[in-house]
Amino acid sequence: MSTRQSSAAADDDAGHPASRGTALGVKPLVGVGTSVVVSTEIDATLVRSATPRDVPALQAFVQGLSTLSRAARFFVPVAELPQMLVEAIESGDRRHHLLVALDGAGAQAQVVALAQYAILDADADTCDIAVVVTDARQRRGLGGRLMLRLIEDARRAGLLLAQGDVLRYNRAMLSLARRTGFEVRRHPDDATLVKIALPLKTNETMAASRTTTALLAA
Ligand SMILES: CC(C)(COP(=O)(O)OP(=O)(O)OC[C@H]1O[C@@H](n2cnc3c(N)ncnc32)[C@H](O)[C@@H]1OP(=O)(O)O)[C@@H](O)C(=O)NCCC(=O)NCCS
Repeated sequence: MSTRQSSAAADDDAGHPASRGTALGVKPLVGVGTSVVVSTEIDATLVRSATPRDVPALQAFVQGLSTLSRAARFFVPVAELPQMLVEAIESGDRRHHLLVALDGAGAQAQVVALAQYAILDADADTCDIAVVVTDARQRRGLGGRLMLRLIEDARRAGLLLAQGDVLRYNRAMLSLARRTGFEVRRHPDDATLVKIALPLKTNETMAASRTTTALLAA
């Protein structure tokens, strides 16, 4: 993997537009939405909301991914973080909940994973969920823990359904999705993809939520 030059912003979140009140140019969502700022640790890796100051480090993170990982996450051979996500971070768009996982501290911190959900334009109760872990850190549990964190955040934000599109051949993501409670279904429009879906408010998932909370606290 290529050496990354950029460092993530320092670990405070004061620079996040959403932490300063109404997101720029975005009507606040009532009842549903994203947690504004979270900060937690997963196996000594700091996980917190992405801020505009993280954008250069996020670009370096995406550039440092293998071609396979980039294609698995973005489906198309992107060279950098899609502009839509950059804009979502920079504007503090509350429909997007983006978590960065960081190794190291302060100016030396590097992004090792990006996990996110985005509330659908067509259905404000539903979010699209995605996660990507830097190649060197895959298969060590970080993706699974981040997915549990995202599910918990989505549930707390009042969302009713988490869903996502996954490449049919993506065994790692399908395994992770099943392990975290998602159902895997045929994709209605694209035979190269499958759809993953997890209701967030059934009795069963509320019980799963308690387990998740316990796991995250462990
Ligand atoms: C999918 C991804 C996020 C998983 O992250 P991770 O940190 O490796 O996840 P975990 O270690 O928590 O678990 C991954 C699971 O996949 C399995 N796995 C990992 N790589 C695998 C591979 N190449 N083939 C088959 N299974 C694999 C692991 O054994 C583990 O299985 P389990 O759930 O039965 O324990 C990571 O592989 C990744 O970033 N891939 C590229 C981007 C991507 O595909 N994103 C998903 C698009 S939404």
